[in-house]
Amino acid sequence: MRSQFEYGTLADSKDAQQLGAILEQCFNSPPGSSEAYFKRIGLENFRLLRVAGQLAGGLATLPMGQWFGNQRVPMTGIAAVGVAPEYRGSGAAIALMQHTLQDLYASGVALSALYPATQQLYRKAGYEQGGSFCTWEISAQAIQVKERSLPVQPIHSPAANVFQALSQQQSQTNNGNLDRHPAIWEEILKPDAPEVVYAYLFGDDQPEGYIIFSQKQINNSAALVVLDWAILTPAAGLSFWKFLANHRSQIKKVRWRSSAIDLLTLLLPEQSAKLHEADRWLLRIVNVISALEKRGYPSDVEMELHLDIQDDLLPDNSGKFILSVSNGQGTVTRGGKGELRLEICGLAPLYTGLFSPCQLQLLGQLEASERRSPPPLICLQVPIPGCEISFSRRRIVDEGI
Ligand SMILES: CC(C)(COP(=O)(O)OP(=O)(O)OC[C@H]1O[C@@H](n2cnc3c(N)ncnc32)[C@H](O)[C@@H]1OP(=O)(O)O)[C@@H](O)C(=O)NCCC(=O)NCCS
Repeated sequence: MRSQFEYGTLADSKDAQQLGAILEQCFNSPPGSSEAYFKRIGLENFRLLRVAGQLAGGLATLPMGQWFGNQRVPMTGIAAVGVAPEYRGSGAAIALMQHTLQDLYASGVALSALYPATQQLYRKAGYEQGGSFCTWEISAQAIQVKERSLPVQPIHSPAANVFQALSQQQSQTNNGNLDRHPAIWEEILKPDAPEVVYAYLFGDDQPEGYIIFSQKQINNSAALVVLDWAILTPAAGLSFWKFLANHRSQIKKVRWRSSAIDLLTLLLPEQSAKLHEADRWLLRIVNVISALEKRGYPSDVEMELHLDIQDDLLPDNSGKFILSVSNGQGTVTRGGKGELRLEICGLAPLYTGLFSPCQLQLLGQLEASERRSPPPLICLQVPIPGCEISFSRRRIVDEGI
C-alpha cells in the first residue's frame, strides 16, 4: 500500500505554492497566509508526499532541542501535517509520518514531539502522550497580589535576543520545555496584524523575568493574553502578578499558557485561576540510545535498568538495552535481562515522567518480569509547554473567541 506514495522535499516554488494551498485548506487559514509561514519555517524543512506524481500532502519539521534533566536533547517538532481531502483515508498521513521518522532517525535526531489534532494517527507512528499543555484563566480583579515588586521595563520593538537567555534559564530546569526553533520566537513576537505585542522585563540591570502579551476581545470582554513568560525569582513572580493586576480597570480576564500544575498560581492568595483548556503534547522516542544518553539524570541516582523495547517502524530501537546511570549521566549498551518490556509508545510518558512506571504497568503499557517491580526510572517533574510547534498559534490561544 505504502509503495503508491512518493516521499520527498519541496523541489521548487511550484511545490511550495501547491503545498501552501493544501495546508491553507486543511487548517482553514486565509488564502496566501502560508507564504509567511513557509518563510518562517524555511522551505528546506518541509516534507511532502506525492501520489502518482501529484502532491497529496506534507508537513513541516522544526529542528530544535528539548530539555530533560537539565540537558538539551535534539528534538524535531512536527507541525502542519496536512493531506488534501481527495487523498484522505488511504494511509497518506501515516506514510508521511513514517517516512519522516525514518528520515529523522537517519539524521541522528533523538526525539520528535508534536501537538496532535488527533492522537490515533500519531500513535500508529509510535508517538504517545509526553506532557501537558494548558491555557489558564483568571479574572484580573481576582489576582489580588499587592506586594512590592521589581521595576518593570517596557521593551519597544521586542526581539528574541532580549528574552532568549531568560527563557533558556527557565526552560532548562523544566523537563519537556523547548530550546525553541527561531520560527517559534517569530510567531510569538511578530503575530499577524492587527495584533499588537507588548513586552516588559522585570528588574533593572539583571532582569529576573519577562512577560510578552497582547490585548483583545474574548467573548465581548477585554482580555490580556500572555504569549510568553519567564519567571526566575520570587520577586519576578510577584511582579508578574502585580503587573497583571494593575490592568484590572479595563481588562476583565487574563490568559496564559502553562502546564496542568501551574507554578505561577502558587503565588496567588486564593485558588482563583482556572484551567481554560487542557491538552497533551505527544513525544516519539526516535533513537532509544541517543534519547537515553543525551538527557540528564539526578546526580544522586545510581542504577541499572534492563529494558526490552519493541519498535516496528525503526527496528534499530528494538531489542534489549541496559541503561546505566551514574553521576547524572546515562550510558546505554545492548543486551541485558530485558526486565522492563515496553512498546516504543510506552517509553515516551516514562521518559518525560508524565506517568510513573507503576501507572504504566497498571495500564498495560509496561510489563515487568516476575518479582521485579519497576523502579522509579527517572524522577521527573511534569513537563510544561511543548506545543509551541503547532501550525498556527491562533488555533491554540484564540479558541473560543
Ligand atoms: C488528519 C489527516 C492528516 C489524516 O490524513 P489521512 O491521510 O486521511 O490519514 P491516514 O489515512 O494516513 O490515516 C491513518 C490513521 O490515522 C487515524 N486518523 C486519520 N484521520 C483521522 C481523524 N480525522 N480522526 C481520527 N483519526 C484519524 C486513523 O487511525 C487512521 O487509521 P485507520 O484508517 O486504519 O483507522 C487529514 O485528515 C488532514 O489533513 N486533516 C486536516 C489537517 C489536520 O487536522 N492535520 C492534523 C494536524 S495535527
